[in-house]
Amino acid sequence: MRGKLVLLVTTKGGSGKSTLALTLAHARTFQSTKVCIVEADPQGSLETWAKEREGAGRPNGVPVFARHKVNDLLNSDYGIAAGLEKIIKGHDITFLDTPGESEANIRTLFALSHSDVVLIPLRFTEFDMQSVTAHVLPEIVRAKEDMGSTTRYFLIGTMMHPTAGLERAMSNLDGTRAEVLPATLPFRRPFAEFAEGGRTLLEYAKEIRASAGRRQARKAVRDVDLIAGEVAKALGM
Ligand SMILES: Nc1ncnc2c1ncn2[C@@H]1O[C@H](COP(=O)(O)OP(=O)(O)OP(=O)(O)O)[C@@H](O)[C@H]1O
Ligand SMILES: [Mg+2]
Repeated sequence: MRGKLVLLVTTKGGSGKSTLALTLAHARTFQSTKVCIVEADPQGSLETWAKEREGAGRPNGVPVFARHKVNDLLNSDYGIAAGLEKIIKGHDITFLDTPGESEANIRTLFALSHSDVVLIPLRFTEFDMQSVTAHVLPEIVRAKEDMGSTTRYFLIGTMMHPTAGLERAMSNLDGTRAEVLPATLPFRRPFAEFAEGGRTLLEYAKEIRASAGRRQARKAVRDVDLIAGEVAKALGM
């Protein structure tokens, strides 16, 4: 059976794609699942994270395949390239992390309507909302019409105020017809700090000493549990 492909994509940089890829791939929900990350971002944040992890001698991280090892994502017919296909087949879930993309590249990536779930992280700021509404949402409509795929596309609110309700966030999206994942990634310090030294969020939560930090970390772990639960549901798992 072919594994599931979860794509993280948007036009805006710094919206939380890599943070989501890393935390979801190591989420408790998927711990008995064979998971990997493919990093299509030449900045290589996750590849660096994996090297730091190896250097620190930490076991059991999910494998991170850098783009140069995959060669390319799509073949000339816009099918999945052989290297990527092999990785997807070898895992239950592959999280594909992409760079903050121009519209043209977004289109290419949506040709990956071979994805089972596409997560589009969105900060609810004026510029980010504009960018997603003008550039990303029309591509979803086009991908659905042109390719008739069964891919599910979800906006996910990121870096939100922890107490901001999803309802309010969703009211920002009235009229866009986008599916919104009913879980968000709030702005929390642990999300900005955990990856240092190749740690996972769960390891960070266990290792942090200060009690306030520990409380925040536990909240962050719960946030990820909720998101992972929704992703699992969307994947039919
Ligand atoms: N929920 C959060 N709370 C606090 N900080 C966060 C959160 N999510 C991400 N960050 C921080 O914000 C920055 C951008 O996040 P991230 O690298 O995940 O975004 P990205 O979409 O992958 O960016 P790029 O387009 O450059 O690849 C990082 O420094 C990250 O640590
Ligand atoms: Mg990134």
